[in-house]
Amino acid sequence: MWLWIFLLPVCLAEANWPRLSTRSSQAYRAERDIALDIPIDQQTPFGISANRLIFDVEGYTADSLATLSNVLYVGINAIMLDMYWNEYTHRWQLCPAPIPEDATANSSETVKVSWQDKTYRCQPSFADSDVYATLRDYIKSSNINSEANVVQLILNLRSIRNDTVVVRTNTTGNRTVATRPAPTSLQTGMVVYQPKYMEVGNTSLSGPISTLNSYLYSPRDLNTSVQINVTSNYDSEFPTMQDFMFNMYKRTLISAINTDFRNTSRTYNLSSADRDSIFFYEDSGFTLNDTSEFVLESCRKRLTDVFDSNYYSQRVHTTKFRTLIDSNEAPLSRDDAHNALQCGYMPVLNASWYPADNKSNISDDYTGRILNRYIPYSYWSWGSNEPNASFVNKTRIALDQDDLRTRDEDDDDDNDVDNPFGDDPDWQETAESQVAEKCVAMKQGGWAVENCYNKYRLACKNTRNPFEWQLSEEIASYFSTNQQVCPKNFKFGIPHSSTEQLALRNFLNASQVIYPVWIDLNDITISGCFVDGGPYAECPYKRAVTTSNLIRSIAPSAVVAVVILLLIFYERFFLSTPIHSNRRRHWKRVINQYYKKNDYEGVPS
Ligand SMILES: *[C@@H]1O[C@H](CO)[C@@H](O)[C@H](O)[C@H]1NC(C)=O
Ligand SMILES: *[C@@H]1O[C@H](CO)[C@@H](O)[C@H](O)[C@H]1NC(C)=O
Ligand SMILES: *[C@@H]1O[C@H](CO)[C@@H](O)[C@H](O)[C@H]1NC(C)=O
Ligand SMILES: *[C@@H]1O[C@H](CO)[C@@H](O)[C@H](O)[C@H]1NC(C)=O
Ligand SMILES: *[C@@H]1O[C@H](CO)[C@@H](O)[C@H](O)[C@H]1NC(C)=O
Ligand SMILES: *[C@@H]1O[C@H](CO)[C@@H](O)[C@H](O)[C@H]1NC(C)=O
Ligand SMILES: *[C@@H]1O[C@H](CO)[C@@H](O)[C@H](O)[C@H]1NC(C)=O
Ligand SMILES: *[C@@H]1O[C@H](CO)[C@@H](O)[C@H](O)[C@H]1NC(C)=O
Ligand SMILES: *[C@@H]1O[C@H](CO)[C@@H](O)[C@H](O)[C@H]1NC(C)=O
Ligand SMILES: *[C@@H]1O[C@H](CO)[C@@H](O)[C@H](O)[C@H]1NC(C)=O
Ligand SMILES: *[C@@H]1O[C@H](CO)[C@@H](O)[C@H](O)[C@H]1NC(C)=O
Ligand SMILES: *[C@@H]1O[C@H](CO)[C@@H](O)[C@H](O)[C@H]1NC(C)=O
Repeated sequence: MWLWIFLLPVCLAEANWPRLSTRSSQAYRAERDIALDIPIDQQTPFGISANRLIFDVEGYTADSLATLSNVLYVGINAIMLDMYWNEYTHRWQLCPAPIPEDATANSSETVKVSWQDKTYRCQPSFADSDVYATLRDYIKSSNINSEANVVQLILNLRSIRNDTVVVRTNTTGNRTVATRPAPTSLQTGMVVYQPKYMEVGNTSLSGPISTLNSYLYSPRDLNTSVQINVTSNYDSEFPTMQDFMFNMYKRTLISAINTDFRNTSRTYNLSSADRDSIFFYEDSGFTLNDTSEFVLESCRKRLTDVFDSNYYSQRVHTTKFRTLIDSNEAPLSRDDAHNALQCGYMPVLNASWYPADNKSNISDDYTGRILNRYIPYSYWSWGSNEPNASFVNKTRIALDQDDLRTRDEDDDDDNDVDNPFGDDPDWQETAESQVAEKCVAMKQGGWAVENCYNKYRLACKNTRNPFEWQLSEEIASYFSTNQQVCPKNFKFGIPHSSTEQLALRNFLNASQVIYPVWIDLNDITISGCFVDGGPYAECPYKRAVTTSNLIRSIAPSAVVAVVILLLIFYERFFLSTPIHSNRRRHWKRVINQYYKKNDYEGVPS
């Protein structure tokens, strides 16, 4: 049911817009739930520049906000927004060009404006408060437990400098040209022109932010709140995602980059109100990188380096909100973006053009086409295009290997490199007669759904240090992972953050492990609802429906309730899932466990 609530606004959007597919909404929620105990400064969302992917394409107009809204609904949790301080008008505006006073008398009309060799379509009335209102409306409509998320808004502060000479040409239909520096000689018919510009936007940077009211987490909140539930290994000043959303009822925070913001005599002076509501990257010690080659290269090196868990605990203490912004010189490919995520950096797509669907033109469905391509790669946790529960018969795949490769050219990442040599009895045993594609394993490219009956080693996490990993001595099927198979002080586990994931991958590579290994995540009880806590962990989102509510509303007596519950379990476990054997044992265990948990009397046997 929650799935449909989540999908609905997206389905109503334009035809070419990417749907938040069932698969990505499952992937998205699983990643969020696993990371709830991690401080927000160590979360790794996927980000886009609203300017490059939306407004440059569709115009700086209120109509483009529908696209921004869709971007939020498909699960993009970080938006970068360029804000321009107009030195002529002393106001903040979104349009990258100053709008001449005589451009239009109607501030809702979209006009073409040129500035320094670029032309933009701008609506004078369009302002940052409209963007905040769109964000607020999205937050309001997604403010329920199963959908809530943390959205980061990154303001990229820039200026429209009064150092530009405007030249008006009489001959070419009164076109104005702005050049910097001034041309050495003016052609005939050209005059230097002192235009007057429309006073659009607000004089204060933080004033319009009040639109977000109580959803915003500000530096002042950080200063005044006492952290009660600190995740000790992270020891962050920032709250965990759980506390942020479900105890403080916050949903968003605004940070600002001001590397492009120059200090001139007409510059904007940040007020104390600005510093109270916006985190500045430099002052707050956030990590900003914009040379993707260096970052990606150091990530590759890290993976094959000698494993040292101290590096990772150091890293979460010394860096926060690690951000990697790309540019036209080096746009991030899907794999680059995915590698950055798995390395603990939030990638922000900021290049003017990305290849999409063989179409080279930038038309109105551009944003949708780009996101269609990138969303399957937008998780720090999951491998590309996961969770993918379609069964692949390993015996068959060995025969068809070549066939598969030629067919799937577009898919640059192929998970089957994980097991190029077939089964090695020390590392794995592939089940061929029994299939339950409901358990999650760690592969080279990230988390991936595998057959629970396959036997792999288990990833065991130190109970006191989440960056310290070991493997079980023996291979085991996922169903036996609840037995004691991990070394002392270690427990079958799963990475809760991108840095824990990097540590695990570094450990696996450094110890020359043959992938995959089991991690603690499955959707055995309810298909599509991924939970940790072993094979019998319950899905938190269906609980309300399947237990107390149902008993109260349908069943008059406990006996009837038991019968109904049995029917529900029968349907859930055996009619809708392809678990074929171990039927009796599995069934009994689940039921018994269920009753133990819920304190019912008279367990049927
Ligand atoms: C822009 O700069 C020029 C000289 O540099 C100055 O004469 C003019 O008044 C400035 N305009 C504004 C709006 O500040
Ligand atoms: C202003 O422009 C908008 C959009 O083009 C139009 O809908 C509106 O009627 C115009 N208003 C006036 C007063 O012309
Ligand atoms: C541009 O030129 C046309 C005639 O060529 C004139 O009607 C119009 O008012 C001019 N616009 C501006 C902004 O000067
Ligand atoms: C522009 O053209 C008009 C008529 O062609 C002329 O009267 C005017 O002087 C010209 N302006 C400039 C700045 O060249
Ligand atoms: C700036 O924003 C604040 C808060 O929304 C508002 O009260 C104020 O009127 C705005 N000022 C201008 C000049 O638009
Ligand atoms: C946080 O508190 C410290 C000292 O209590 C103060 O110096 C600083 O200005 C405060 N920062 C904010 C953003 O309120
Ligand atoms: C701390 O965590 C517990 C359980 O996880 C929760 O009930 C409680 O509300 C949290 N307290 C705060 C202040 O976040
Ligand atoms: C900008 O310039 C002013 C004086 O012109 C100075 O007080 C201020 O510290 C400068 N700011 C930065 C960030 O350099
Ligand atoms: C910013 O502060 C400097 C120095 O105090 C001042 O000269 C300048 O006019 C101020 N700028 C604005 C836009 O208020
Ligand atoms: C990323 O930027 C930080 C400064 O913000 C710098 O110290 C670090 O070396 C950079 N990382 C890489 C890999 O370039
Ligand atoms: C983003 O893209 C713009 C336009 O290509 C470029 O000017 C800018 O430097 C890039 N990076 C950031 C951090 O804005
Ligand atoms: C997988 O393929 C092998 C060889 O064709 C076959 O024996 C086996 O039954 C298949 N397994 C399943 C579950 O289809």
